[in-house]
Amino acid sequence: MDQNIILDVQSVNKDLDNGIKTFPILHNVSFIVRQGEWVSLVGPSGSGKTTLLGIMAGIDRPTQGRVILDGQDLNKLREGDLAKLRNQKLGIVFQNFYLINTMTALENVASPLFIRQDRRNCFNLAADMLHRVGLGHRLHNRPHQLSGGEQQRVAIARALVTEPSILYADEPTGNLDSSTGEQVLELMQELRRQMGLTLVMVTHDRQIARRSDRELHLYDGRLTDAKTLQPLGQAALTPASVWAG
Ligand SMILES: Nc1ncnc2c1ncn2[C@@H]1O[C@H](COP(=O)(O)OP(=O)(O)O)[C@@H](O)[C@H]1O
Ligand SMILES: [Mg+2]
Repeated sequence: MDQNIILDVQSVNKDLDNGIKTFPILHNVSFIVRQGEWVSLVGPSGSGKTTLLGIMAGIDRPTQGRVILDGQDLNKLREGDLAKLRNQKLGIVFQNFYLINTMTALENVASPLFIRQDRRNCFNLAADMLHRVGLGHRLHNRPHQLSGGEQQRVAIARALVTEPSILYADEPTGNLDSSTGEQVLELMQELRRQMGLTLVMVTHDRQIARRSDRELHLYDGRLTDAKTLQPLGQAALTPASVWAG
């Protein structure tokens, strides 16, 4: 097996069932992500991007197919082991930040570390991470005292404080004005470079997608060729470097 593959999504199908009718949400989605890549997942609203990310994170299960994250088949893990894998390997950033309102920035960022280390160490690491995202002066503020851009920086710090191998971001700039969004994006790029992070970013902003190493286009739950909207063959899903190298 290719040692550099960190994420392997194999023939994922997802159907939703409302008791009367079955709605197909994802059809036969397959792709790989290599260590250090920045892959963007592009598609219109309702195309299945968030559903796919949930399955890639083991938050949701596919109807068929499987996801191998850092060598582990998510289908084969129990809830507790999945939670552990998520805590150790994965960082996730959402469009709506999802910070805990009753906690300070420092407590929010420290929270993923609580299950592993003593409190003082957690808070030290969290404070370092908040300094790295430019919020050293905001440690003791609660989310409602922060701007949208600052809240997303806290969420990024929380996602990265555990030093995950891969970061998923679901429209991370979708709730920010364009200049704040640009600053957040630049921060993510800088941290990615510093930490050697793999990044899968959902966006419907083509300008943002163009800056990534590779774009995957989802349309009606299928990976498609961006120009023709035709379903992709397997060959097209492999990074260009394979053919070049
Ligand atoms: N819990 C749910 N119940 C019913 N339909 C859902 C649910 N979650 C998602 N969907 C449907 O699945 C499709 C894909 O949704 P989603 O993954 O959120 O797309 P995107 O993130 O690309 O906007 C949409 O048609 C949406 O209406
Ligand atoms: Mg979505």
